Amino acid sequence: MKTVNAKVVDQVAIIERRVAELLGRMTLDEKIGQMSQVNASEAGAPEYLGMALRDGRIGSVLNQVDVATVNELQRISVEESRLGIPLLVGRDVIHGFKTVMPIPLGQAATWNPELVRNGARVAAIEAQAAGINWTFAPMIDIARDPRWGRIAESFGEDPYLTGRLGVAMIEGFQGDDLAGDGSIAACAKHFAGYGAAESGRDYATTNIPENELRNVYLPPFNEAVGAGVATLMASFSDLNGVPATANRFLMRDILRDEWGFTGFVVSDWESIHQIAVHGLTSGDRDSAYEAATAGIDMEMASDAYSNHLAGLVIGERIDIDTIDTAVANILRIKFRLGLFGAPYVDPDQTPAMDLEAKLRVAKQSALESMILLKNDQAALPLSIDRVDSIAVVGPLADAPYEQLGTWVFDGDPDLSITGLAGIRNLVGDSVDIRYVRAMETSRSRSTDTFSEAVEVAQGSDAVILFLGEESILSGEAHSRADISLPGAQAALVRSIRQTGKPVIAVILAGRPLTLTDIVDDVDAILFAWHPGTMGGEAIADLLFGVESPSGKLPATFPREVGQIPIYYNQKNTGKPPSPNTVTNMDDIDAHAPQTSLGMTAFHLDVAYTPLFAFGHGLSYGEFSYDNLRLSPQELRIGNSLTVHVEVANLGKMIADEVVQLYVRDLVGNVTRPVRELKGFKRVRLEPGQTVTVSFELHTDDLAFFGRDNSLMTEPGVFHLWVGGSSEASLHSEFRVVDAAH
Ligand code: BGC
Repeated sequence: MKTVNAKVVDQVAIIERRVAELLGRMTLDEKIGQMSQVNASEAGAPEYLGMALRDGRIGSVLNQVDVATVNELQRISVEESRLGIPLLVGRDVIHGFKTVMPIPLGQAATWNPELVRNGARVAAIEAQAAGINWTFAPMIDIARDPRWGRIAESFGEDPYLTGRLGVAMIEGFQGDDLAGDGSIAACAKHFAGYGAAESGRDYATTNIPENELRNVYLPPFNEAVGAGVATLMASFSDLNGVPATANRFLMRDILRDEWGFTGFVVSDWESIHQIAVHGLTSGDRDSAYEAATAGIDMEMASDAYSNHLAGLVIGERIDIDTIDTAVANILRIKFRLGLFGAPYVDPDQTPAMDLEAKLRVAKQSALESMILLKNDQAALPLSIDRVDSIAVVGPLADAPYEQLGTWVFDGDPDLSITGLAGIRNLVGDSVDIRYVRAMETSRSRSTDTFSEAVEVAQGSDAVILFLGEESILSGEAHSRADISLPGAQAALVRSIRQTGKPVIAVILAGRPLTLTDIVDDVDAILFAWHPGTMGGEAIADLLFGVESPSGKLPATFPREVGQIPIYYNQKNTGKPPSPNTVTNMDDIDAHAPQTSLGMTAFHLDVAYTPLFAFGHGLSYGEFSYDNLRLSPQELRIGNSLTVHVEVANLGKMIADEVVQLYVRDLVGNVTRPVRELKGFKRVRLEPGQTVTVSFELHTDDLAFFGRDNSLMTEPGVFHLWVGGSSEASLHSEFRVVDAAH
């Protein structure tokens, strides 16, 4: 009997033979057709694209989700074109299709790869039934700038967390077998560095030294390739002077030569055309040349390839091998998806998942994504037995569309359970819920209806304020320079505060916000992101203690925009600030000597610490960490150590905790971050329960790219912390010694 591996090898060989055989029969125009993806969003797509499909001039379409239309497009390609090559049908299925999960940044806050995998599976099943076989997700750009609107679509600032969750999402979309039921091809994007856009302005220039690129921005992509992601998408941005779409260093040297990627790379929307807009070329012809030779296999939306590649090959500027390689990369994925054998989709034959099961995943995901940022005097959970009336106030309490977040082309707001509905359903008749919207949108400046809100608050036992951002304020091309609560929301908080009632803020948003101006005026903050379809039920369960909050921040919350970029895994600098650093300009004496303030890396007018740190998130449980043990404490390169820690729940409620492990490499060939996440585990503890949580840490996990940009593991001393956030204080240390020692 053959082993599984031998079967896989056979399968690969069979596909390679079929790719070569098909390639051998293709004309140049048909090859270029495979490299062209066109927008098919109109209902009349089969008519206006029919001719091009018959001629084999289109390899992929995007943005058509009517299954009959998709099948007709496939039929024309398969039955009426000379070679009958089926189409890749792409769509941005980013955080759900019909059933919407929390935005990816919210999913990242779950620190739960299993849940992320399940969410992607639900999305894949729904999308496949609409004829889609390729999604443009996950986005695994490292995002250290909350002004950037697309941070919503990311897994946040940390390479390790992003890598783990990116792989989970890929596994959810692609399953064990790309050709399997309910599997669609994934696309890791945007390769690479897109999240480093200057000042967080979407599409802006990025300058990332190679060492930082390799240590911070590339690792999640490397893992995605290792996990078998079918495709990658090039970034829109200019990386160190060469737009990613024309960047051979990225697409060839790293992706193909170093990582051995065998799938294909698609440009971003018209990003080949934009190479000239960047100023690298003077027009589409040269842009097509730059992109094709850099290694962009398929062009999305624009027509530089279809207009110019043939001429470039005939004129001998581009070698036919370059074209053949690109086409082979694309055909390989079409074969792996099983499209040649089964190009059509019969929605009745695609795997079904009952609505309740899908909503359960969406709800669990929402529950675990929400973060209790603050909870003074145990203001939460609210007790149904102790309150008779609650004022529910704010523009996002009952906004079914807004809670879905960015990228919800196909999401159905009618399925949304809003916060208001969730609370009403939960408390039934036992609590009088009084709703005042108070602001038309999250951006409204009018305070006209505040008096009504204040009056209702005054007559109630507690106030739940639903604040934040509408979905349109984050996402692609939706960056903000000021990331505080928009409109008159801070004024609304202050007015409500004056009633003296307990004030609970539930914040729905697509990014970390600066909450400095309201944080002291509320008793508790539940940060809910844009939580998707089941957001309201999750919010209600958490507010009333049916479940304990368990989300942890995947991105740092700054106090002020001026602190950005602020992230936990920063470098130490030569003059690190310390807790007694002056951070109030008013405290500086007139004519104070230049050196009197400490001469360290801080701002004069704001603390050097964030408002809420990476990994932070409170609970209704009360977790203690003890008895941290490392064995061995000295290990040779090439070996592992085990970390054990006892985690106890001293509180009165069953709750999940995300146990986090950080290390610091004290001395490096290049300077190393002050802390780096190296492991995490979500555990569920009954009141009074203690568990031992263990991690295995291999010296490979400590490897980094050194001065010559090659991967290295160095001997030396490492500090290690375990706890419930990146500010964990329980620590130990270990020493790595040379293998030869
Ligand atoms: C975005 C991509 C997206 C593509 C297709 C672009 O504008 O940057 O992330 O997949 O559009 O919709």
